[in-house]
Amino acid sequence: MILTLFLGLLVLVHGAWSTSPPDQVQQPHPLLLEPSCNDSRVLSVAGLALEKINEDRKEGYVFRLNRVADVLEHHQEGSGSVYYLTLDVLEMNCHVLNKKHWKDCEVRQLHDSIYGRCKVIFYVNLPRRILYLAAYNCTVRPVSGREIATLCPDCPVLLPNNISDPRIFQTVSESLEKINKEIGVGKKFHLFKVTEVHTQWVVGPSYTVEFLVTESPCTKSLPEKCLPPPADAQPVGICKGSLSRDRMKKYIAGTCEFFQSQPTLAPESHPPEHQVPQQLASTTAPPLEGPKGSVQFLPDPSIGKIEDDLEQTPPLTFPAHVSLTTHPLGEVLQLPSHFLLDKEELPIVLPFPEESRSNECPGPAEHSNSLILPP
Ligand SMILES: *[C@@H]1O[C@H](CO)[C@@H](O)[C@H](O)[C@H]1NC(C)=O
Ligand SMILES: *[C@@H]1O[C@H](CO)[C@@H](O)[C@H](O)[C@H]1NC(C)=O
Ligand SMILES: *[C@@H]1O[C@H](CO)[C@@H](O)[C@H](O)[C@H]1NC(C)=O
Repeated sequence: MILTLFLGLLVLVHGAWSTSPPDQVQQPHPLLLEPSCNDSRVLSVAGLALEKINEDRKEGYVFRLNRVADVLEHHQEGSGSVYYLTLDVLEMNCHVLNKKHWKDCEVRQLHDSIYGRCKVIFYVNLPRRILYLAAYNCTVRPVSGREIATLCPDCPVLLPNNISDPRIFQTVSESLEKINKEIGVGKKFHLFKVTEVHTQWVVGPSYTVEFLVTESPCTKSLPEKCLPPPADAQPVGICKGSLSRDRMKKYIAGTCEFFQSQPTLAPESHPPEHQVPQQLASTTAPPLEGPKGSVQFLPDPSIGKIEDDLEQTPPLTFPAHVSLTTHPLGEVLQLPSHFLLDKEELPIVLPFPEESRSNECPGPAEHSNSLILPP
C-alpha cells in the first residue's frame, strides 16, 4: 500500500514534469505503472474483470483466472485507473448463459481442460464505484489430445461440436427425445446448439453431449401438437445427453438445467397483457450496450494428425489483440452516460501497451501444469 502510494506520487510528479517542457524527448506513456502480477490489488482487479467478461459472453463456458500474465496500470486524473491486463484463463464446467459465478462451478479435469489467454482493458474508479469493462479479446483451445492420450489413454476425449457427425446427431436426438418424454409437459424442447462432445470407450463406444435448448408450447388436446420454436427463440437451458452401447443394449440418458434469468414462458400462464409494460421494463434495465469483445475458439492442433506429421505441428499461439485506439497519446474512453463523471475526470485509454518489464510477471498459476498454460 505504501509502495503504491509512493508510486502514485512518483507518477504525479513525473507526469507534471513531463507535460510542461514542450519539446521533450518522446516518452510515450509516462503514467504507466508496472505492478507485480501477484499483487493482491491486481489479483482482485483481474478477478473482477473476468467476472465482467463472463457476464458479457453469450457463448462457451465460464472462465476463471489461472494467473495474471501481465499488467500495466494507467493512473488517471482525479481517481481511478485504466488497467491493461493479460490474463491466463481456464474454462469451468458451467455455461456462461447459466449466469453462475465461477466459484459455484467446477474446474475441469486435466484431460478435459480448455485454456487460453485474454487481453483486457478495464477501468476501475473505486471512489466513484465504477468497474467498467472497456474491451476484451480472448483465445482458448483444448488441451492437446495427443499429450492426454499418452498420459491417460482411457480418459474421455473432446470431439469438435459437429452436429453433422452422425454419432453426435444420434446422441443429441435420442437424449432429447427422452428428455421431452420425461419433462416436456405442455412444451417441447429443441436443439439450439451443441456446446460440448466427449467420447470414451467403456465396454463399447460412449458419447456425451452438452447442448443448449429452446422451447415451444404444445396443445393439451389429443393428439398433442407442438409448435416449432420461433426463429428468434433464445436458449432456456442446457442439457446433457449420453448414448453408450455394450454388446446387448443401448443406453440413453438425458438431464437439463434451466436458466434462472430467463423466465420460461409456460403456455397460458402469462397472457401478454400481464407482462411488464415495455416502458417500465426499459427504465429498470441497464442501458443497451454492444458486446465488449469476443472469444476465439481454436481447435486442438493434434487432432487428425498422424504420428509423422507431429514434427510439423506449429508452436501454439494465443493471438488476442485488443485496442480501442491507435492514437499514441490515447483517447477519452467513452463511458455509458449513467456513470456521472466530470469532464476532466473522464479516463484516457491508450493503445494496448507492450508487455511490462516487471520481473514479477507472469504471476504464480493456480493450476501450473504446463499443458494448460499459454507459452
Ligand atoms: C504471491 O503472494 C502470496 C501472498 O501475498 C505469497 O504467499 C506468495 O509467495 C507469492 N508468490 C510468488 C510467486 O511471489
Ligand atoms: C462434420 O461431420 C461431417 C460428417 O462426419 C463431415 O463431413 C464434416 O466435414 C464435419 N465438419 C467439420 C467442420 O469437422
Ligand atoms: C478482437 O480480436 C478480433 C480478432 O483478432 C479483432 O477483429 C477485433 O477488432 C478485436 N477487438 C478489439 C476491441 O480490439
